Amino acid sequence: MSENVDININGKDMKAPKGSLLIDKLLDENIHIPHFCYHQALGKDGNCRMCMVEIEGQKRPQISCDTPIKDGMIVRTTGKNIEKVRRDILELELINHPIDCPTCDQAGECKLQDYYMESGFYESRMNLESKNHARKREDLGANVMLDQERCVLCTRCVRFCSDITKTNELGVISRADHSVIGTFPGKPLSNPYAMNVVDLCPVGALTSKDFRFKQRVWFLETFNAICNGCAKGCNIYVDHRKEKYKDDVIYRFRPRVNKEVNGWFMCDEGRLSYAKENENRFTTAIVEGSESNVSNAIAQTFSKISNDGKTLFLLDGNLSLEEIKNLKSFANILNANISAYSPNSIDEDFGDDYLRNKDRRANTKSFEKLEINQSKEYFEESLKSCDNIIIIGNDYFDENLDLLDSKNSIGIFSHNTLTIKKCSIAIPMASFYEKSGTYINCDGIEQKVISKMKKNEPQLSVTNIIEELKSMIEKGDLL
Ligand code: SF4
Ligand code: SF4
Ligand code: FES
Repeated sequence: MSENVDININGKDMKAPKGSLLIDKLLDENIHIPHFCYHQALGKDGNCRMCMVEIEGQKRPQISCDTPIKDGMIVRTTGKNIEKVRRDILELELINHPIDCPTCDQAGECKLQDYYMESGFYESRMNLESKNHARKREDLGANVMLDQERCVLCTRCVRFCSDITKTNELGVISRADHSVIGTFPGKPLSNPYAMNVVDLCPVGALTSKDFRFKQRVWFLETFNAICNGCAKGCNIYVDHRKEKYKDDVIYRFRPRVNKEVNGWFMCDEGRLSYAKENENRFTTAIVEGSESNVSNAIAQTFSKISNDGKTLFLLDGNLSLEEIKNLKSFANILNANISAYSPNSIDEDFGDDYLRNKDRRANTKSFEKLEINQSKEYFEESLKSCDNIIIIGNDYFDENLDLLDSKNSIGIFSHNTLTIKKCSIAIPMASFYEKSGTYINCDGIEQKVISKMKKNEPQLSVTNIIEELKSMIEKGDLL
């Protein structure tokens, strides 16, 4: 650890690690500093010059992204002079900008727009006819569209592909004010993390083909969640909107910074998995082939369960720690076996040495922590001896439906599956983003999330369902 030294920013004394970048201190202290090219995940490049500050004793303003902190440094980010310098740089950035904010997907979360508004630049000195034009719709490859005219050439996208994914699809082509971002011939932007360049782009040059023109960002609300696409447990934002008289709809997942887990990024497959949360949901309970309300389905489940040791619970790896704990204690009450066998959850093709983990279950570590048996042998043995099987989210039987022929099967699912058709009772449950709970990722990091979805008909978590069954047992005469 480097030594902490005294510095003064905008008249306020503070400590900062000697030699660290001034811009990091400004960002960590939430001191407003306009910047395009610097990003904490990508480091400095020094090309945009937007992050200028005044440093006492220096003749000219300095870029804070390439200024190491020294003891006794006195820094100013505000004031007439430095604001004028930044405003002039911004004017330069805007010389060839197409000024198409009303039709730009980034409007509302665009750094160029924000800086323009705060610098009070309401009249342009540029003649619109003399602007350089470039391609407005350049398909870079899977999921990403480029508008070359809006680009400020910060090179964040280029550096992401060279330094983070090391796939090198992007580069700066041509010179001077004809410079544009583009892909190399025969090398589309198609790495599994490509869509992170959309978040990195500080302007509306790179947009997601999936999200563009679907929703204005200022109508969206956001809450924090954990991606359930694999055991990494990337931290995400869920951007959703509930329109009047309609149900809440998710429009996108975006990465949320957690330096311990996923840094600033997430994979494209996890990002696009939001779509399946809007589709194919299992929402109406079924009892003996007919639609039912959830209370009746739970009451019917109560009438079928017994503690004769002939019940098996089969759990899915995307349940929260709290749900698994509850299921375990319920299985104990029923003297039942409990298994988390899930042979389809390991996907060697998906795993890599960056974020994507071959274990496609979000909470396998919770099974280990709670000592839930995951072995094939235990599952097969328990299946042979059980009469009742309660399947919670696990898709094992989708490919083995005939194994349920002689069983009394009860399913609790968030999405429609083939297994539901074989269940005498099926109860809908909340999906991962609709419930609060704890997940332990592949590195043993425990993460708790609190859901804020506003569904018209909120689904019960497994904990709610089990609590109801337990209270029936306490009140009633089960068994
Ligand atoms: S496309 Fe966006 S991220 Fe890439 S250089 Fe241009 S402004 Fe920067
Ligand atoms: S790496 Fe895994 S947890 Fe992260 S976004 Fe992708 S699927 Fe989700
Ligand atoms: S952020 Fe410092 S020069 Fe671009």
